[in-house]
This record gives sequence, C-alpha cells and structure tokens, in this order.
Amino acid sequence: GQERVFNLTISRKFFAPDGFSRDMFLINDQFPGPLINVTKGDTVVLNVKNDLDEDTTIHSHGMFQRGTPWYDGVPGQTQCGIPAGQTFSYRFQVCQSGTYWYHSHSRAQYIEGIVGGLVINDPEDPYINQYDEEYVVLIQDWYHTDSKILVRKFLTPESQGNEPSPDNGLINGKNSFNCSSASPGSDCYSDTPLEQFNFVQGKTYRFRVINTSAFSAFIFSIDKHELEVIEVEGMITKRHKVHRLPINVAQRYSVIVKADKPIASYFMRAEMETSCFAVVSPTLNPMVKAIVTYEKSSNQTLSENPWSDIVTECVDLNPNELVPYHPQQVPDADYNINVIVSFRPDDKNVTLAFINNSTYVIDLKYPTLKKVFDGMNHFVPNQNVFLIEKNKVVVDIILINTDGGEHPFHFHGHVFWVLGSGNGTKPNYKNLNTKNPIQRDTATVPANGWTILRFVSNNPGTWGFHCHIEWHVESGLVAQFVTQPDLIRKLSPPADWNALCSKPNN
Ligand code: C2O
Repeated sequence: GQERVFNLTISRKFFAPDGFSRDMFLINDQFPGPLINVTKGDTVVLNVKNDLDEDTTIHSHGMFQRGTPWYDGVPGQTQCGIPAGQTFSYRFQVCQSGTYWYHSHSRAQYIEGIVGGLVINDPEDPYINQYDEEYVVLIQDWYHTDSKILVRKFLTPESQGNEPSPDNGLINGKNSFNCSSASPGSDCYSDTPLEQFNFVQGKTYRFRVINTSAFSAFIFSIDKHELEVIEVEGMITKRHKVHRLPINVAQRYSVIVKADKPIASYFMRAEMETSCFAVVSPTLNPMVKAIVTYEKSSNQTLSENPWSDIVTECVDLNPNELVPYHPQQVPDADYNINVIVSFRPDDKNVTLAFINNSTYVIDLKYPTLKKVFDGMNHFVPNQNVFLIEKNKVVVDIILINTDGGEHPFHFHGHVFWVLGSGNGTKPNYKNLNTKNPIQRDTATVPANGWTILRFVSNNPGTWGFHCHIEWHVESGLVAQFVTQPDLIRKLSPPADWNALCSKPNN
C-alpha cells in the first residue's frame, strides 16, 4: 500500500449549512470535512491541526486500529485530547475496506461539524465492475443552538431526559430552512440550494450512505428508483432490493442505483424517524431532500413521488434479510457478557444512563490505554470496563435494553455478528442466526428489547462500546472493553502520544 497523507485543520467559524448562520466547526474551512478516499493496504496519515480554543480528537469510525490502538481517537480511553493550538498525527494501516467516517470524539464536537466520510476501496470488491460511478451521501440531523447549551439543558431535572429535538436535517451539509421560524435577528436565508447528484441515463451508481447524526435515525430513498444494498459497514452482501432504507446513527450502507428512468430530476429523501423522538420541534421539517438529476436537466419543477412501503421505524433493516457475499463461519461463543441499559434520575433528579447500574464518567487526564501501559488491570466502576484477558476468545454481548427508546450501539476496533434481537428483556437464544449472519460495527437494540452480538476478541486495545446518540453519550451510556492487556503492553506507543497527557490545558 501507499502512504496517504491528509492535513485536517479544525477551526471555529460562522457558517450556514441550511441558510441559518451559526458558529460551528469546519475542517479545512469545509463542511462536511474532506472525503478520505484510500485503498485497502494503504497507510493513512491524518495531520490534525487544532486551531480551536478547546481540545479535540479525530476518531476513524470502524477502523480496527490493529497494532495502533493509541490512534483510535477517544479521549479518556485511548488518548488525551489534542490541546488548543497543537498538531497531532494519527497514522494507521487499513487492512479492511468499505464505507466509514471520521469524527471528533470530544464532547459533542462532531455534531457541530467535525465530521467527514472515509472510503476504503478494495480492488477485489466483487461489485467493482458493476457500477460506473459512486457518490458519498452524509445524512444528519442539525441543530441551530450551540451543543454546549443543549447538553447543559439536557442534563437538568427540567429536561426529564427528553433529548433536544433537531431543527433541521442535512444531506452532504446542505438543506434549506424556512427562516420565518428562526428567532428574530438571526442571520438566515431561506431557500438555499439542496445538494445535487448528477445521473447519466443508462449508467449505474453506487451510493455510500452514512448517518452522521447526533440523534436521528433516517429512512433513505430516491423517488422512482430502487436501491440494492450491497454493503453494510464494510461487509459485502448479496444484492438486496429495498425502496426505503432505514439507517440509524453511525450506520452505513452502500446501495446500487440504476439510472434507468426518464430524463428528469427526482428527489432523494432522508426522512427523520421522528416517532423515535421524545419531543419534536414544531418547526422541524422531517423530510430532508436532495436532488438527483439526469443529464443536469435544470429548472424543471420536481414532482413528489415518494415510495410508500411501510418500514418499521426505529429498528435496523432486518439483518436476517441481508446475506453476506462471502459465507460466514460463526464460531461458538466461549462466554457471555451482559450489558444492561437503563435510564433513571440520579440524586439531583437528573436523568442519567446506566450500564449494569453504572454511569460512565470520562477520565480526561488519564485515559484507559495509558493506565494499561502503566500496568493497571483494575479500573474504578465508573469506567464501565469489561476486561478480556485471553486472546482469540469468542464473546457474546447480550445487550438488554430496559429503556423505552432504542439505542444504536457501536463497538470500536471490531465488527460483530448480529445474531438476533427481539422484544422484552429475556433474550431468546433458540432463534439466533448463526448460519450466515452479517457483521457490522453499529447495531440497534430495540426499545424494551434485546440484541445479541458475537465477536472474536483478538485485537489488543481499549475499545469503546457505546450508544452513538450523542445525548446518550453525554448521559453516560458508554462502556469500554480492555482486551488482552498483556499483549497491549508488548506494543510501543509513539512518544508524541504519551506527551499529549502531559500538556497543559488537558
Ligand atoms: Cu463513531 Cu465512539 O464513535
């Protein structure tokens, strides 16, 4: 592979993705940040220059970071933050392929602009000759209020644990907004242009769809056009036709779309699943749109032709409908780890999240990986550590959700087989799909339900396991796996990584 260097300069500026101007984060003055597009086997170097007046990190979501766990980019777990004004380089080899993304893992920075797509091409991808071009589609919810204010308000008794409602949604950082519903005096332009994708009739396209939201699950579709799913988070699948594709926070899919319709323009839709919200802003338009246009045909009025298939909201596209292209041999589990999710008010009446009765509290000054290098094998309860000492053991995570909301759980440094899920808090072990299940890195546990995820623990490191809804990270719905600490200690982290923790303002 080649060495591929990307310089990412992070700054804070006024910007108006949907016409509503607000103070937010930009990478190289862009939003979303530049696409990182590399090939399997390459070594990726991210030179991150922090031009903010606060610390930051970059996490490459879905990367295994095998042998380089210190570059996973998680403050409190794998590194100390990059201090204001400083530069830090992440350097890792990619031995996987597919659709990923990168984002800040510090506080709620990613939901305010520190985000971009990460695509790893594989010359041996079985579909590589079955499409002509590809597009990356980042879809996300969007807030007009500073995240620090939203978090502060959320973590009060008054919120009753109801997550802030988005003000809008974006496709590749664009949408329009009706400024008559913006507060008076705001700097706002209505009817800013939508993102546009160009089609040439007769060609075939691969869309890499990435949900980079803080909170919202979406249903993705293109009017009149069928989608064929071919990839789930790096795993190639057999073609699976859908019209409306549910995609939860942090999940990704590749779909093949044929440009075989009459020359015209069509809406692409990312519809927010507001039925999973606790409260919905009255001015929110949940139907986020972009335009797919044939032969750059402009100026015509678009007609509304939404697909009307019923999709069960707030749960993943049924994993049993997706078949891995390369059949999977799933080993038997050596043991189970129970992860019980609940929410309840603490003694100050602030609703917090609990994993096995413990709310995660971030230890910014002394990240877990450093503790392991310093010889520690025991961690205080609020670190929510699951320790796996043996190498190559097969572990089932039995995720039991006693909460009335669903949670997209992401596991760092790994993929897991999604063996089954259901309602109620008593998992049904009899109907698990161990024949040929898909693997992914982010799966939704249903409201008042369970999900069983199986993985092979063979990647020494300290790996986050958390609900990817940013509000739930803030309320402590975070755990971490410390895998093979003895093997971690045989690795040597770079000096500048160690130095991050001794810098002031951390
Ligand atoms: Cu997208 Cu903990 O990460």
